[in-house]
Amino acid sequence: MALKKGVDVKPATGKLGILLPGMGAVATTFIAGVMAVRRGISKPIGSLTQMGTIRLGKRTDGKTPKINDYISLAQLDDIEFGGWDIFLDNAYEAATRAGVLDQRLLDQLKDELEQVKPMPAVFEQAWVKKLNGPNVKKGATKMDLAEQVMDDIKRFKAEKGCDRVVAVWCGSTEVYRKPTETHATLASFEAGLRASSDDIAPSQIYAYACLKLGIPYSNGAPNMALDPPAMVELARKNSVPICGKDFKTGQTLMKTILAPGFKARLLGLQGWYSTNILGNRDGEVLDDPDSFKSKEVTKLGVLDHILQPELYPDLYGHFDHVVRINYYPPRGDNKEGWDNIDIVGWLGYPMQIKVNFLCRDSILAAPIVLDLALFTDFAQRAGMHGVQEWLSFYWKMPMTPSPELYPEHDLFIQLMKLKNTLRYTKGDELITHLGAEYYD
Ligand SMILES: NC(=O)c1ccc[n+]([C@@H]2O[C@H](COP(=O)([O-])OP(=O)(O)OC[C@H]3O[C@@H](n4cnc5c(N)ncnc54)[C@H](O)[C@@H]3O)[C@@H](O)[C@H]2O)c1
Repeated sequence: MALKKGVDVKPATGKLGILLPGMGAVATTFIAGVMAVRRGISKPIGSLTQMGTIRLGKRTDGKTPKINDYISLAQLDDIEFGGWDIFLDNAYEAATRAGVLDQRLLDQLKDELEQVKPMPAVFEQAWVKKLNGPNVKKGATKMDLAEQVMDDIKRFKAEKGCDRVVAVWCGSTEVYRKPTETHATLASFEAGLRASSDDIAPSQIYAYACLKLGIPYSNGAPNMALDPPAMVELARKNSVPICGKDFKTGQTLMKTILAPGFKARLLGLQGWYSTNILGNRDGEVLDDPDSFKSKEVTKLGVLDHILQPELYPDLYGHFDHVVRINYYPPRGDNKEGWDNIDIVGWLGYPMQIKVNFLCRDSILAAPIVLDLALFTDFAQRAGMHGVQEWLSFYWKMPMTPSPELYPEHDLFIQLMKLKNTLRYTKGDELITHLGAEYYD
């Protein structure tokens, strides 16, 4: 049914600042990529906001605009970059060190990349045991550190002349710790900041500072930065869009493409064994079992939610799911993943599928950073706040608006929800594939 009116979306006038806590491989591949695209050197492959289309009306209507012609998104020329890191390297040096992009490309962008210099980070080694760097803030309390981050943001916004700012966490994976009483309410969290509670992670300090200033925040790592009730409360109170967590790339992307297909055809699953070799700094950080635990949690949840063993006990009641990441320096950012999938067909006959994905981690993650920055800015201008479930498409472990709701992991349902949300904001008919006519 056609909706009468869309949502009132404020125009994307002026500049959009994109702030990145953590300026390593993913962040610099994203920044250099946007610079290369706006100079016409490369194409933004993998980005829905830049290359995706959206069908409107019936298939016979022939109306399929590009998404960025359909809704008002910030243009690439209007983006300014900033961020924080514990290392002093500017974006050119960090991108060179990360070794993801061709040096010839980086050299063409050198002048512009060198201008992006990391601000001093909020960092505590207890949360990322394998790292230590010189570019770190000092503060009397954790609240003091949060206020310093807020000052950084205000300064960045003024210096770059930005109308709006969004943040996407691209920092390392912190050790796994469940939220505590400190995280239960905004008041207890703020008391914890003032008392420098050990329960509060650096990633939570950035998230708090951004939400306090009304800045949309996306959490690219498995860290518990936005999940605690205190953060959700702050996002609602200040009407800020938030989403996370852990960019869906590589092996988990493959899982959420394949598993819905097995389920659609009612093929059973006995086991899914996933292993990876990875040699970048992220791999080094994940070599610490406590950081890996955070990743393992986001990676393991996927299959249960897609396959719904409670509804299909004969097919998915008992399967073994194992995920391993092995740090292997020679591979750098070029991760190799192997999946062995034991499936079961008619009358219980077993079959095997092997997937060998020679992927490039940051090449898969960079367009996600761009889309999240542009879509969360759009969400804010559209008055959408709190958890942005329509952006589940991008996450290994999508946040849900309430703890009773299970996350939607099926990539195709996620994409349908994302596009229907865009249609809704424009007051266009949602596409449900349920029309009365064959051609609906
Ligand atoms: N590349 C992918 O496909 C992918 C997918 C999902 C999630 N991720 C996550 O994205 C994050 C970034 O990945 P990457 O490959 O760029 O890693 P990276 O190690 O190259 O970059 C992370 C950067 O964060 C910095 N950092 C760590 N703690 C910080 C802090 N408190 N404040 C500011 N900076 C801090 C580090 O110094 C480093 O430069 C990781 O958490 C990773 O797990 C990546």
